Amino acid sequence: MAQTFSLSGANGVSDIHIGTGLLRNAASLILDTFSPSRVHIVTDTTVAPLYLDTLKAQFSLPVSETLIPAGEEHKRLSTVESIYHDLLKNGMTRKDLIIALGGGVVGDITGFAAATFLRGVSLCQIPTTLLAQVDSSVGGKTGVDLPEGKNLVGAFYQPRLVLIDPSVLSTLPDATFADGMAEVVKYGYIANKEILSLSAKTDYRQHIEQIICECVKIKRDVVAIDEHDTGLRMILNFGHTIGHAAEKLGNYVDLTHGQAVAIGMVCATKLAAERGGEDLSTPLIALLTHLGLPTVLSYDREAIFEALLSDKKKFGGTINFILVREPGRAEITPLPAEELHELILKL
Ligand SMILES: NC(=O)c1ccc[n+]([C@@H]2O[C@H](COP(=O)([O-])OP(=O)(O)OC[C@H]3O[C@@H](n4cnc5c(N)ncnc54)[C@H](O)[C@@H]3O)[C@@H](O)[C@H]2O)c1
Repeated sequence: MAQTFSLSGANGVSDIHIGTGLLRNAASLILDTFSPSRVHIVTDTTVAPLYLDTLKAQFSLPVSETLIPAGEEHKRLSTVESIYHDLLKNGMTRKDLIIALGGGVVGDITGFAAATFLRGVSLCQIPTTLLAQVDSSVGGKTGVDLPEGKNLVGAFYQPRLVLIDPSVLSTLPDATFADGMAEVVKYGYIANKEILSLSAKTDYRQHIEQIICECVKIKRDVVAIDEHDTGLRMILNFGHTIGHAAEKLGNYVDLTHGQAVAIGMVCATKLAAERGGEDLSTPLIALLTHLGLPTVLSYDREAIFEALLSDKKKFGGTINFILVREPGRAEITPLPAEELHELILKL
């Protein structure tokens, strides 16, 4: 039984449907919402052979597609430009519909293309990784990387429709599934400890639809309050401050994003304990290990602080750090850079 959630954003309502097998009925949900003359699907070279035909075959109107090479290194402006050319070549107008079928990379690139092509074309997200289902497809952040850094160009653009089908996760490599579980654990620690109990089960993959629903509800509620990321949305960065620094020190090769977030969350709980809070690191380490995620920070602490500071320069002398008081309750805590420096050296 599919569940539906709605998110009201600055550019309209986003309906999010979650249900096993939804991909097989995607066109009818899409045509209940949109009235396009044609549809353009953007996907990548890994997802296309798995799911593109299932989606395409459901439409009786003209469907065109752009296949982008899989991988973060293709999340760049030249890929967006190639999508614009395909959209024009296929006669797409502002009344038509663009669908993103893929992980967070496809979703971010396609969202940005939809936000900017002809100043905005309707968008439907069909996320196919766990990370994209619980995080990137919801909330309207779109964009691409520059050689100087990740996600430096983008737009806030809510998809009118998000279709989440957990059954497509069956083809994900285990390591990619585990990456998504790092974000799931993040949601559990910041807002809902039931997610932690479900994730700790031996058969947690059997509960993935329920887990996704709980995570999406949290993201929906946070984005509804702070769509443009000027306050509360920062809470979603639990584990990401030190995680990003570790990712950077590993040149984005040694650690995946999910692995870096896992390590970052452990560091954040140890840091909270140093400041006098309860030490939540032991159960967190046990859970992350159970999920196949790393928990040990192997980089020089001074180098971590330097990397973190360069990432957060814009906040001046204070860094907004997300501290978890107890599982399910987090706070945005402004920490003076000197205090954070001392705490990181103690990790
Ligand atoms: N917009 C946001 O709010 C937001 C939030 C978090 C992350 N992101 C972005 O998301 C991106 C990471 O997303 P990701 O982790 O989904 O990576 P990804 O899109 O690169 O997907 C990972 C790999 O899995 C493959 N894949 C996708 N679905 C599959 C399936 N069902 N079966 C088999 N293989 C499949 C992809 O082809 C790719 O090779 C980053 O660029 C990050 O910046 C955006």
